[in-house]
This record gives sequence, C-alpha cells and structure tokens, in this order.
Amino acid sequence: MKAELLRILRESESYVSGQQLCEHFGVSRTAVWKVIRQLKEEGYEIEAVKNKGYRICEIPDVMTAEEIRSRIHTRWMAQSCLYLESVDSTNSYAKRIAEEGAAEGTLVIADEQIGGRGRRGRGWETPKGTNIAMTLLLRPQIRPEHASRLTLLMAMAAAQGIRKVTGLDAGIKWPNDVVVCGKKVCGILTEMNAEIDYINYVVIGAGINVNQGSFPEEIRQTAGSLSVELGKKIPRAELAASIMEELERIYEIFLQTEDLSALYEEYNKICVNRGHQIRVLEPGNEYTGTTTGINKNGELVVRKENGETVNVYAGEVSVRGLYGYV
Ligand code: BTN
Repeated sequence: MKAELLRILRESESYVSGQQLCEHFGVSRTAVWKVIRQLKEEGYEIEAVKNKGYRICEIPDVMTAEEIRSRIHTRWMAQSCLYLESVDSTNSYAKRIAEEGAAEGTLVIADEQIGGRGRRGRGWETPKGTNIAMTLLLRPQIRPEHASRLTLLMAMAAAQGIRKVTGLDAGIKWPNDVVVCGKKVCGILTEMNAEIDYINYVVIGAGINVNQGSFPEEIRQTAGSLSVELGKKIPRAELAASIMEELERIYEIFLQTEDLSALYEEYNKICVNRGHQIRVLEPGNEYTGTTTGINKNGELVVRKENGETVNVYAGEVSVRGLYGYV
C-alpha cells in the first residue's frame, strides 16, 4: 500500500482526497493517515488540507523498497527489493540470501557500504547518503562460461539508465566501466556460484557515483560522479529503477541466444573505445591497436598495429586509452 500510495501522490498534479484513497485501497481513513504519518517520518513532506486531501511537496532522496517499487515499471526484475541503510557489501548480502533461497530478480540496495568490494580484490567506497550500491540476484539457466557476459549487460543497462534519467552522454569503457566525460561513474562486480555445468546463482553488483561531490586523491584523475558532471543532484531511486527497467529488457533479449548477437550493436554505439587507439594490457603481453567494438561473444575486436585482428576476452585483460584512462 505504501509504494502505491507514494506513486498516486507523486503522479497526481493536485490534491488527492482521503476518501479517494480509502476507496482505492479499501481501508479506513485512519489506515491511510497512518501510512501518511510513516512517510512524513521518513522525510516526505506531505501537505494535508481539509476538504482537499493530500499533496506531496518534497520527496527525499531515499532508496527504500517502497520508493523504488513506486517508481519501477518492470514485470519481474527488482519487484522484490531489499533496502539496507548500511551493509558490508550488497554483493555479499545478496550471496547470503541466495544461499537461503531468495528469488531470482531480488534487488539488494544500500545507502552505505562499509566493506564494498571492487574487481581484482580492490575496495569500493559507498559513503552514506550519496551514491547507489545495488546487487541483483539472478538464477540464469545458461552455461557457466557465459555468465561473464552478464556484466556487460549491466554496464549497458547502467549507461542507458543514466542517459535516460540525466541526459548525460554516458558510455561504456570495455568491458564494464560506465564513464561520463572521461571519468568512471559506475563499476560492476559479478560473482557466481556454480557447478561445472550448472549455475546456482549469479549476483551482479553495480556501484554508481551519483551525488558524490569529491573523490580521494588516489582516484581523482579517473573517478567522477553524475552530479558533478550534470551540475545538480539526481534522485537515486529514479535512477536505480530506470537501470532495472533497462536491464530487464536487455537480459530477456540476451536469454534468447545466451550471447550478445542482438545486443552488440547497441553496446557498440555507446562504447567509448570504439574507433580509438587503445593499449591492451594482458599479463605478460601488452600491445596497441584500434577497436571496432565487441562481437557477439562480448570480446573486444582489436586490430593490432601489425594488421592482425584479435578478439580480446575480458578476464585478466584491461584496456587503456593511449593518453589516459579512456
Ligand atoms: C569495480 O571495481 O569497478 C567494481 C565495483 C563494484 C562495486 C559494487 S557496489 C555494489 C556491489 N557491492 C560490492 O561490494 N561491490 C559492488
């Protein structure tokens, strides 16, 4: 009822009468008032005017399950949503609930992470009240060796969601960093629990720098945030919901073939490496080339300086622009 009430109030241009709400939910006026009071306690400014009803004046930048559910238009993805004020890592939390049988499509979202994890054993900062840390639990019936492709799907969804909500020209630095104006604004960490030929579950975590104002010295050159680039704050729940809508669309296309044959063109359109000179850093093997983007397997197609074309598999490889991060 809370999420639906939020949606009604937000989407209504004028006052919504108490009577209308009672009839809509089939509950008493006191029951409606109780939910309104809860929302006020959570920071929503709701005006109550006699003979007119309720009107929402101010929506706080919260990512509660109700706020997300009141905004999301998915059929199944993130319909079950768990909000945590503080957690070690949303990926670790999602793995724990996956072990206990949580349903496919469950989204874990947190306001703060105190042990956030990045790729290759690095950490990931999610300070209170500013960014998005979220992890989606999936139980895909695909071959375990294809699971790394899911990371590319999340990168696409994050970039498209950012473009929709902010209008910023978000792109993907292969394989899965989302960048705006040459700065990384989103990182993705996918983890899997599988048998040799069967996936038990996959958790896909995305950390998005939404409203962070500044970054520590060590990462200032490469890290950026959406609000810094846009010049104003962005509602995090709206962005999270939009990313989930994009991901549901993209994931369902992916499942039809288990590859990116129907998606790589969309990926390549927003791939910032495409057409640029890049430096490929493989353990024990570094070379320079240009890339036309990814193929249907999600591999980066690189034309080396000697004319040879190679398909680079993400794994241990990283890619840099010749003059910096992108
Ligand atoms: C990277 O190194 O680029 C990946 C960063 C992934 C961070 C996200 S934040 C949500 C989820 N929980 C974690 O502990 N990590 C991922």
